[in-house]
This record gives sequence, C-alpha cells and structure tokens, in this order.
Amino acid sequence: MSLFTITTNCLLSLLGGFVSLKLIQEYIPIFIQRGHYGNDQCKVSNAPIPEPMGVITAAVYLIIMFIFIPFPFLEWTYTERLFPHDKFLAFLSAIISICTAILLGFADDMLDLRWRHKLLFPTLSSLPVLMVYYVQGSSTTIVVPKIARSIVSFLGFEMTTSLDINLLYYVFMGMVIVFCTNSINIYAGINGLEVGQSLVIASSITLYNVIQLYRLQDPIECYYNWLSIYFLLPFITTSLILYNFNKYPARVFVGDTYCYWAGMTLAVVAILGHFSKTAMLFFIPQAFNFIYSTPQLFHLVPCPRHRLPKFDSKTDTVGMSFAEFKKSELNRFGQWVVTILSTIGLLFKEDFNNDGEKWIRLNNFTVINLVLKFVGPVREGTLTKLLLLLQVFSSILAFIIRFFLARILYDV
Ligand code: UD1
Ligand code: MG
Repeated sequence: MSLFTITTNCLLSLLGGFVSLKLIQEYIPIFIQRGHYGNDQCKVSNAPIPEPMGVITAAVYLIIMFIFIPFPFLEWTYTERLFPHDKFLAFLSAIISICTAILLGFADDMLDLRWRHKLLFPTLSSLPVLMVYYVQGSSTTIVVPKIARSIVSFLGFEMTTSLDINLLYYVFMGMVIVFCTNSINIYAGINGLEVGQSLVIASSITLYNVIQLYRLQDPIECYYNWLSIYFLLPFITTSLILYNFNKYPARVFVGDTYCYWAGMTLAVVAILGHFSKTAMLFFIPQAFNFIYSTPQLFHLVPCPRHRLPKFDSKTDTVGMSFAEFKKSELNRFGQWVVTILSTIGLLFKEDFNNDGEKWIRLNNFTVINLVLKFVGPVREGTLTKLLLLLQVFSSILAFIIRFFLARILYDV
C-alpha cells in the first residue's frame, strides 16, 4: 500500500474533522429553529439541545469517503496489472452499508421506529457486505480451541484443528452487524457516552490493525488491515469533534443517526477486514449491557421508554433509575431472573406497598445503572469518565485475550 494513499487518507480525515467543526457550529441554531432538539434529562435547565447532530458528521464522513474512493486504486491506472475489481467492490459495499445505517438512524430519530424494523433493516442491509465476502471466496473456517478437541478425542472421535462452518459464518456476521448497530444505541443516555465508547472501540481496532501490519507478511492480509484503517481514521476525526460538543455538559445530542453509523462502520471494517471475531472482543461492555438488558428488552420486566439515570437537581448528581410495577405482573421466569440477579448483587430490588398492593422496585437493567448501584450517585461528567475508563480497560483485556490467551487456547 502506497505512502501516498495513507497520507491522503490522513489529510482527508483532518479535513473531515475541520469541516465537521465548522458545520456543527453553523447548524446548531438551524436545528433549534426547525424544532430538531431534545431536552437533557439530567440537567436543571430545560434548554433545547440540537439533535440529531450525528447526521452532520455522518454526512461529512460520507463525502470524505466518496472523495477518497479513487486513491487506493490509483496505482492500477498507470500499471499493466489487472484492476482489482473484488477490492473495489468491497470498498463500495462498505459505503452502501454505512449509508443504509445512517438512513435507518435518521429515520429512527425522526419517527421513533419499532423494534422489529430496527432489527430487520440492518439484517437486510448487511447483504451487500456479506455478498462481497462470499464473492471474494473468503474463509468461513474457524479454528477449534484445543480444549474442544481434547473433549472430542476423549469421547473417542477425531477432530480437525479447523472447521468450515459455511452458512453459519454468514449468520454470525449478519448478527455482528445487527448487534453493533443496536448495542451502542442502548448503552446511552448520559453526555458523551455514545461517541466516547465508539471512539475507544474505533481507536482500539485501528491500533489492532497497525499491530497486524507489523506482524503479518502476506500482502492480502495487510490490505485488509489497511482497508479498515482507511474507514476508521475519518470516523475518528469527525467523531472527536462531535465528542467535544457532546461531552458533559452537552451542547448537542448525537441521536440514533450517530449510533447506527458508528455501529455499522465498526461492523463492516471488522467483516471486510476479516477480523470480526477479534473485533467483538472490543465490544465487551456493550455485549454485557445487551445481555444484562434482555429481561427488559424481552419484556420479562417492564421497560420504560427511557432507562437513563435519574437526575437529582438538589445535589446535581445522577443515581440509579428504577422500574416500578405490581409484583403480580412478574411471571415465574421473570421472578427467577430477578431473584438470581439480586442474590448475586447485580440488581437493586426493593419491595413496597402501594394502595394495599405489593409492588416491586428494580434498577433499570443497564450497565450505567449497575455501575451506579456500586458507586452511588455521582456527577454526570464523572459517570461518563468512569464508563469510558471501563471501556478502555476492556480494550486492554481484549488485546490480552487476542495476543496472549489465544495462544493458550488455540494452536496459533
Ligand atoms: C435508548 C435507550 C433508552 C435511553 C436512551 C437515551 C434502550 C432500550 N433504549 O433509547 O433507555 O434512555 O437511549 O439515549 O435501552 N438524552 C439525555 N442525555 C444524553 C443523551 C440522551 O438526556 O446524554 C435524552 C434526551 O432527552 C434525548 C433522548 O435521550 O432527546 C434521546 O433518546 P433516543 O436516542 O431517542 O432513545 P433510544 O435510542 O430510543
Ligand atoms: Mg438513541
């Protein structure tokens, strides 16, 4: 990969950051004038906060990527070598998927979409990327952990070191896309968290790509890591500018547009860069938040429209927010989940009487509330810093798992 291409990408990324800065400043009053704003639920002031400002940075990002399209392919225009149509297709399919995610996010911001549409649309919009993956003849083989092979051989069977799971691999990649686009959106509600977490994940993936470029010799594998870097650098610079406006105290809200754009960008680089399993390691807090949320997402426990922390105007702090409901509303399975989680200390539970009926109060099932259960009410800015620190630690853990533990578990 030529020095010229990466230099162009860096310069365009900086340009993207600069244009985002100017456009956000210019569009703040326009958003408010047109009625596109939300109210910060963790502040005393009820001032309108422009939303979804993510659409501005996403548009700048797309334009930067459109301008960048010819550069990775310039060298083929003046050499005799065959033009790499598969690489060109991969590039375009990533842009298509990112565009569809931005469209979905914007529609969600404008219309508050239903959950079935939020899940169906990204599933179908993953098809261009999956088709390209298929056409490229990319691998659907997984390496079997040593322990699994030992168990199988203990049972008297033989097992190869790798297994081609074929169609299941495509199902997994489709799920990666749906998970990434939604998991950032449901790990949200305090200033700076949506952009902050996306920035930590994007920077971690970029660092992983750089490490791989040093480790790997094969030009094809190196190309995949370059491809990921090309998509992530402009994402990081535009997001950094947005973070500056969205951090505590927020001057803009990023909206669902940002969450879906970020999720899809991270998912497509992981798939087209052929490191989707590793990339999932950088989503540990999001995965935990998703699993922890399932009792509310699947309505075992009532799920309020907003699960963000509760603001206390007297102390200017945020604390746990609660779901309160009649105990009789909880079915057997729900009771079982609540008992287990509260027994192991992962859920705040309180019984109380309301008009002679037994009611129950539970913290909303998000990692934000879980952290507040342990650290108590804190200022919103402190909570964001704490959660972003958690994200950084989980990235460090991801690197340890990928580069050290993987050697123990697999023959690599
Ligand atoms: C998701 C969460 C919801 C959470 C919301 C916060 C699930 C299933 N849904 O819903 O629980 O409350 O995100 O983004 O987990 N807001 C703030 N401060 C912030 C960010 C947002 O007060 O720092 C409020 C504002 O009123 C803003 C609204 O949240 O207008 C945006 O909510 P929206 O993105 O529409 O919620 P969802 O993504 O549907
Ligand atoms: Mg949202």
